[in-house]
Amino acid sequence: MKVLTITSKLEVYDDIQEVSKDIQDLMKIAIETRDKAYAPYSNFKVGAALLLENGEIVEGSNQENASYPSGLCAERTAVYFAGAKYPKTRILKMVISAKSMKHKTEAPVPPCGACRQALVEYEVKQENPIEMYFMGGTGKVMKANSVKDLLPLVFDSNCL
Ligand code: THU
Repeated sequence: MKVLTITSKLEVYDDIQEVSKDIQDLMKIAIETRDKAYAPYSNFKVGAALLLENGEIVEGSNQENASYPSGLCAERTAVYFAGAKYPKTRILKMVISAKSMKHKTEAPVPPCGACRQALVEYEVKQENPIEMYFMGGTGKVMKANSVKDLLPLVFDSNCL
């Protein structure tokens, strides 16, 4: 028997002011997008902004539905739009902000497991990592250099 230890290194910034200007600007877009989320059931709004290799910025917010499972997270809304509109363009960065309308959201909110799985598909497809930044409504910002740092032991096309 062997023990496999998996480690991920993430950077933690105490405040949005500590990250680079380009990420601050992307975070502003993610926040504006977050505020446009359609989240009448959870009252939890999430916004994501993607920076593509061609300089385009693609946005996504969570879109809910009276039939709850029919809704979609902000991250997948954004990444599927990018995949649909710019199928051959690499995604360089994803910046996310999430905020509850009911209480303070001060801890960084990482993408859910289903979104990590959807995102890693694009990393594999484009053969390049996507830098991930995420925060709550205020407070700390976390950065992962790759979706794989958020999803070790990835299931991808190589497993098929
Ligand atoms: N949500 C996202 O948009 N992204 C995540 O990574 C986690 C959850 C949305 C889905 C739903 O509309 C609301 O947040 C509450 O789960």
